[in-house]
Amino acid sequence: MIALVVYDSLHGNTEKIARAVAGVLGPDAQAVRAGQADPAAVAAAGLVVLGAPTHGGRPSQAMQDFFARVPESAWRGKRVAVFDTRVPAKWVRIFGFAAPRMARRVQKMGATLAAPPEGFFVSATEGPLLAGEEERAAAWARGIVG
Ligand SMILES: Cc1cc2nc3c(=O)[nH]c(=O)nc-3n(C[C@H](O)[C@H](O)[C@H](O)COP(=O)(O)O)c2cc1C
Repeated sequence: MIALVVYDSLHGNTEKIARAVAGVLGPDAQAVRAGQADPAAVAAAGLVVLGAPTHGGRPSQAMQDFFARVPESAWRGKRVAVFDTRVPAKWVRIFGFAAPRMARRVQKMGATLAAPPEGFFVSATEGPLLAGEEERAAAWARGIVG
């Protein structure tokens, strides 16, 4: 099974989580930036993990552009797991977060969630990740592998 991790990251925090996840998914797992990801790779992968920074309660623009490039048929029957990065401030909750939105989007297109959508915390816009978040990401990824 080929596992593909597609991520976006402005300041490197989501990339760190993506790499922690890919590390658990096995030696064949690839982590690629959303802007460089080949839409055909989604169709070829047995498992797709999507990770995006939360921007205004939504996935970042590059991840939204990636969704626009992938044909809807590629998601049908696909095992998909999604995560975002976010800040722990209570007031941002009003906007929502990227992961639940991505989850709804792929499910609507016929994908099956391989794990519950998850959010990993950065201390501020540019990071760093809160202590233990890469380890928590690895544990989350182990849940995908089963
Ligand atoms: C334009 C912009 C909008 C943001 N909006 C939110 C938000 O709505 N909720 C939130 O939790 N974090 C928000 N953040 C903080 C991001 O979640 C944080 O920058 C990101 O997790 C860092 O990941 P990265 O290093 O991979 O870019 C925002 C950041 C930027 C730059």
